[in-house]
Amino acid sequence: MIDDKKVLFSGMQATGTLTIGNYLGALKNWLTLSEEYECFYSVVDLHSITVRQDPAELRKRARALLTLYIAAGLDPKKNCIYYQSHVSAHAELAWILNCFTYMGELNRMTQFKDKSAKHADNINAGLFTYPVLMAADILLYQADVVPVGIDQMQHLELTRDVAQRFNAIYGDVFTVPEPYIGKVGAKIMSLQDPAKKMSKSDENPNASVYLMDDPDTIMRKFKRAVTDSEACVRYCDEQPGIRNLIDIYSASTGKKPEEVEREFEGKGYGDFKLAVGEAVVDVLRPVQERFAELEKDKAYIDSIIKENAEKAGYYAQKTLRKVQKKVGFPEKIR
Ligand code: TRP
Repeated sequence: MIDDKKVLFSGMQATGTLTIGNYLGALKNWLTLSEEYECFYSVVDLHSITVRQDPAELRKRARALLTLYIAAGLDPKKNCIYYQSHVSAHAELAWILNCFTYMGELNRMTQFKDKSAKHADNINAGLFTYPVLMAADILLYQADVVPVGIDQMQHLELTRDVAQRFNAIYGDVFTVPEPYIGKVGAKIMSLQDPAKKMSKSDENPNASVYLMDDPDTIMRKFKRAVTDSEACVRYCDEQPGIRNLIDIYSASTGKKPEEVEREFEGKGYGDFKLAVGEAVVDVLRPVQERFAELEKDKAYIDSIIKENAEKAGYYAQKTLRKVQKKVGFPEKIR
């Protein structure tokens, strides 16, 4: 609890360009949470280097992501938006938690298996202990809730296990976090293969709509989106392509799937795809405009980065000091 509010923690990686999936599925939902929770949103750059990165590119993307959080409408005075690498307590707590996590637990992580298959030439120890760093992120702030996608649920379960294990030995040190399942948990799928999640690292550029795509590109991608063969706009399992487009349209306009079906009754896929494209262009426009403005205001963004790193550092240190004492590290002499 911070000032009578429950604490919420989440993070995103600055690898790849953010898609409308990240926006409609995550960021947009975050906007509604800052009244109810004390929110920490981190750009998790320590996680990013588990895969080889170009340094200049990583720096640029991390800053763009942080700017985007603000452009999307998160008030940086109310939400602590910061770089993970600016708060060294993340790495320090991760080390300690490494000593309370079993190899067997990490071996079971499906994301580790997937990523090692994908990066067979660089299966480093950081990739293996990635979930422990994630646990450190969450536990440092004594987070009560963590909004995560289904793909991160296993990591959150591990976080809970490690927290409980630690608490069982040392007393109540960590808050055991709960997953936060959003009301409109829009899971946006690839436009080219609706069986796959829309991904910021898809090789096919037509599969994903990026947050910074211009209107023409967005319209073109929706026109090319794969559809089905029933030739009607109906929300059902037999039409995964259309269902995905309905989800995107719903998340963009706030209309329910049934309303969307009614709106397009008797109309073909072509008309519908155009409408979805236009709806997405409309939702993204203000975010893109605000991003362009913010990007120019270097001094403002810098001040946010500094202030929030200090704020995050304050809370993180509090937990870290407690943990260091519990495990038996000597008190610093001041
Ligand atoms: N692993 C998460 C992802 O790739 C990002 C992340 C890092 C995270 N630390 C976190 C998410 C803590 C929630 C809480 O999506």
